[in-house]
Parts: sequence; structure tokens; C-alpha cells
Amino acid sequence: MLKLFTSLLFTLIFNFSAMFKTYYSYPKDSDLNGPKVFMDNSNLVKKLQDNFLIRPIEESKGHRNRYNLIDMSLRDPSMGQAAEISKIIDYQKGGFFIECGALDGETRSNTLLFERFYGWTGLLIEADPLNFAKMLKKGRRAYLSPTCLSINPYPEIVSFLQRSNMGRIAYEEVVEDLVGINDIGEKKLPMVNVQCFPFYTYLLALNITVVDYFSLDVEGSELNVLKTIPFDKVDIRTLSVEFFHVKEGDDGVRTYLENKGYIVTGKVTRQDRLANDYIFAKPSVLSQNLSFYVTE
Ligand SMILES: *[C@@H]1O[C@H](CO)[C@@H](O)[C@H](O)[C@H]1NC(C)=O
Ligand SMILES: *[C@@H]1O[C@H](CO)[C@@H](O)[C@H](O)[C@H]1NC(C)=O
Repeated sequence: MLKLFTSLLFTLIFNFSAMFKTYYSYPKDSDLNGPKVFMDNSNLVKKLQDNFLIRPIEESKGHRNRYNLIDMSLRDPSMGQAAEISKIIDYQKGGFFIECGALDGETRSNTLLFERFYGWTGLLIEADPLNFAKMLKKGRRAYLSPTCLSINPYPEIVSFLQRSNMGRIAYEEVVEDLVGINDIGEKKLPMVNVQCFPFYTYLLALNITVVDYFSLDVEGSELNVLKTIPFDKVDIRTLSVEFFHVKEGDDGVRTYLENKGYIVTGKVTRQDRLANDYIFAKPSVLSQNLSFYVTE
């Protein structure tokens, strides 16, 4: 049993390293990218399905994968987001989540609680290859994707700045900031080319339209990502959105989602800045009247 599991894991990692070589840092002129490619392009959906999604190991084959976590006793490693979501949605019924950036799948994970203890599954998106390699070993029961959510309504390959939990898509101004503050030459910045897909393309690839919880923490590109989502075609029931690094500030994210019909049900903030999230819900999922509260 254990042998089987180990060999499975090995196969998974081996396959991933093959994929890693093929798809990381490939040339920026790779096909099916740019403004002319629509997010529902069927070849694009297939490209994502075939090359950039790792399926959860099927439990029906008798080998339920085991978690391999650093802290098995920590039920909820999130900084409070999961608890807020639990208050507004019937999480015990099971559901589907999308988390981006997922980091290593354990550290400050907003979705591990739902997956481990309440039978949810979902999609974990992480652009940084070093974080993704760690996530592969955690035994998460979810789809894993070594990609990024597009900040434009079309697929593209971006330069991604690798900075552990602070990694982000590198706009020119970000690079300039870093060069200015740290006085490091541009060449020395750890950059990697990563394939991004629009949010909607992932849903088409997974053949789903309902997302019970979308955790969005991409170190500054949150509003741009939200602007690509066709809210008339997808049913995202709750969200947590980090706002701390967003140029437009917390009001930008809040106003945008309120205009899409969402209600702010909470705000999770911490002095150490490890959480600065708004919690949003569709009025239809709220089972009770919640007043606005702040968790410190
Ligand atoms: C997609 O989902 C629908 C509804 O759940 C189902 O009827 C259909 O067969 C699915 N298509 C594929 C290609 O899995
Ligand atoms: C929420 O509060 C409003 C105003 O107090 C009330 O009219 C409404 O019925 C309440 N809704 C629920 C679901 O309790």
C-alpha cells in the first residue's frame, strides 16, 4: 500500500519535472497567447487541460493519497479567512474552491481546512516553480496548476518575480521599485516566464461554472484579475481578496465587487500584514444578516 503510494507520488513528481522543463521559461512568442486569443477558445482550453492541470489522484482506485504536511495538527493554517468563509457558507456540505496564489499548499492555506475536513476539492494555482514543487509533495486532493491567473482578458506569458510568499507578476514599475529600494541590478532579480490563463479558461477546462470559494492573493494584481472574470457566466459564491498591495487600494477592489452584486461580510487584517483581506459573498448565499466586523 505504502509502496504503491510512494511510486504514485514518484510518478507524479517525475511527470511534473518533465513538464517543468517543457513549460517553464519557454519563449514568449509561444502560440495561443495575446489579445487575439479569446478566453473560451477551445484550443486554449485544451492546452490548459493537457499541459497545465494535474488531476487529483483518484480515490476510487483504492489509494487515497495521504497528506504530507509539516504540521498535521493544525486544522486551519489560514490567517482567519477560512473561519470567515465558514460563517457565510454551508461549508460542511462540500464544495469547490479556487486558491491563487496557493504558495506551497500548506503554509497559510485558506482552503486546506475545507479539503481535509469537509470533503471539498478545488484548484490550486501557483506560479512560482519552487513553491509549486513543494505543493506537489503535500498530497492535496485538488487540481494543481503551475500557472498564473491572467491580469488581462487573454492568455499570456509573463515574467514572474520569484520571492517566496511575495512572488508576483513583474510589471515594469515593480521591477523599478525593487531596483530602487534594494539597489540590485535588474539581471539579478530571480525571474521566470510563466504561462497565465484567464480565470474563465480554468473553469471551462474543469467543466464547472460554480465556485463556492475563490481565494485571491496575488500580491497586487487582484483587481486586474477580477476585471477579467465574466461574472454573468460564472457563479462565484464567496471570495477573500487581499487588498494590501493593490495600487487602487482596498476601495478599488471593494467598489468593483460591490458593483458586481457582492456584499462585504468581513475584513481580516493582522498587524504583521500576513492577512489583509476583504471577505465577499453573494447575497443569495447569506443565511443570516451579518454585520460588518473586523478580525484582528
Ligand atoms: C460537463 O458538465 C456537464 C454538466 O455537469 C455534463 O453534462 C457534461 O457531460 C460535461 N462535459 C464533459 C466534457 O465532461
Ligand atoms: C435582515 O435584516 C433586515 C432589516 O433588519 C430584515 O428586513 C430582513 O428580513 C433580514 N433578513 C434575514 C434573512 O434575516
